[in-house]
Amino acid sequence: MSKKVYCLVGTGSRSFMYIDALFGPYSAWGTLKAVCDTNRKRMEYVAKYVAKSYGSHSLDVYAPEEFEKMIADTGAHTVIITSIDRTHHEYIIRAMRAGCDVICEKPLTIDCERAEQIFAVSEETNKHLTVTFNYRYAPRNSQVKKLLQDKTIGEITSVHFEWLLDTIHGADYFRRWHRDKKNSGGLMVHKATHHFDLINWWIDSVPKQVFAQGNLIFYGRENAEKRGITSFYARGTDSSVVDPFALNLNADERYRELYLNAEKEDGYQRDQSVFGDGISIEDDMALVISYVNNVLMSYHLTAYSPWEGFRVNFNGTKGRLEYEAVEKAYTSGKENDPNRLDVRQKKEFELKEEVRIRIRPHWAESYDIPVEIANEGGHGGGDDRLLRDLFVSDTEDSLGRAASHIEGGYSILTGIAANESMRKNAPVSIKEMIRDYPTLHRILG
Ligand SMILES: NC(=O)c1ccc[n+]([C@@H]2O[C@H](COP(=O)([O-])OP(=O)(O)OC[C@H]3O[C@@H](n4cnc5c(N)ncnc54)[C@H](O)[C@@H]3O)[C@@H](O)[C@H]2O)c1
Repeated sequence: MSKKVYCLVGTGSRSFMYIDALFGPYSAWGTLKAVCDTNRKRMEYVAKYVAKSYGSHSLDVYAPEEFEKMIADTGAHTVIITSIDRTHHEYIIRAMRAGCDVICEKPLTIDCERAEQIFAVSEETNKHLTVTFNYRYAPRNSQVKKLLQDKTIGEITSVHFEWLLDTIHGADYFRRWHRDKKNSGGLMVHKATHHFDLINWWIDSVPKQVFAQGNLIFYGRENAEKRGITSFYARGTDSSVVDPFALNLNADERYRELYLNAEKEDGYQRDQSVFGDGISIEDDMALVISYVNNVLMSYHLTAYSPWEGFRVNFNGTKGRLEYEAVEKAYTSGKENDPNRLDVRQKKEFELKEEVRIRIRPHWAESYDIPVEIANEGGHGGGDDRLLRDLFVSDTEDSLGRAASHIEGGYSILTGIAANESMRKNAPVSIKEMIRDYPTLHRILG
């Protein structure tokens, strides 16, 4: 068996999942040869980590302007993209033009302009693009897909979906690059791409129209002032700060090395106060979405909740499926290693997932479905199963979990339309929104 050669771009927290997979359990199937990032310090830390953790292995590092050289030097078959969202399109396009397939972290990208470029180059080069929707792979989410696919509640007519991000995980989006909509598309794109993808997959349809309202109502200086807070700080990495919302980069070796010690390169501060100025994303959003198959959905995302998880209820012609999950909260990059969690997070880490899937048929007793809980790995056990599918591809996929740029595209259209709807305070038709983007319109319209 010849091993596939991989390169990776974006050596932040998320890259470690792929690095550990390729130097660890999947090393027989693939080799990660090189990484690329704008921040040389971060790349060097990652290369050092690999040398220390995996002995003889080494990683070459390349600057963004050397991206094509990296592909040529290594003979890469596939590029893994874990850079910040607004840059995904650039590396997808450059990788495909250089002859590579692509594995891209969600979201595919953040707006229609960028999506159009991706779709056009994908057609031009015929290269394969996988968007890594790990949530599809969480066993309990796959169970729900199977129940719906088997018509347990008949034809689905409507959905009520509430997603809660807590004050650990949710708050983290307000200290980092995500807090600027220009980087992430806001939580409607960056985060809800997972949720809208799950819905598209669960109900086997695509969005038609979106009406959204959103507020920044909890985070940000103005909101804190309204609640009577008078003392403010710019950064969490300041020992004088006592605030559960403050993230101290010195408290965690990886965070210190990846971010604090790399700051001089690009000025990026990973620990900004969530009660500072300059946040341009919402923390509370409510949507009404209609789908091509006439399903109606109400959806709500809150980013400052005391618990993390979701409730999704499907109404159908034969009854109702109710699915509730309390998820373990984490700050990106720390989820797999309890020794690296600070005290505040340990409490959350020790929580077991609580999941309930209940079927309420018309005219019959309700019953609970025994739920397959995967406590290992991130995202309800989805990360581990996704990695096997990516690197070994030996798993049977009767549920159609592997997602391409097409599913990636549909999953961001809902969020992009939501942003547009919030801006206009009016419903947005997906077809009309993408009318000016010929490839998107032809393929997704
Ligand atoms: N599927 C999931 O559940 C999941 C979880 C976490 C993160 N992610 C995704 O992974 C990606 C990275 O997130 P993260 O948490 O690791 O962020 P991070 O800030 O830790 O890392 C991002 C990296 O991108 C680099 N970068 C920025 N601009 C660049 C450019 N122009 N060229 C090359 N590199 C550039 C930064 O220097 C940094 O090293 C995001 O797209 C995020 O949505 C997905």
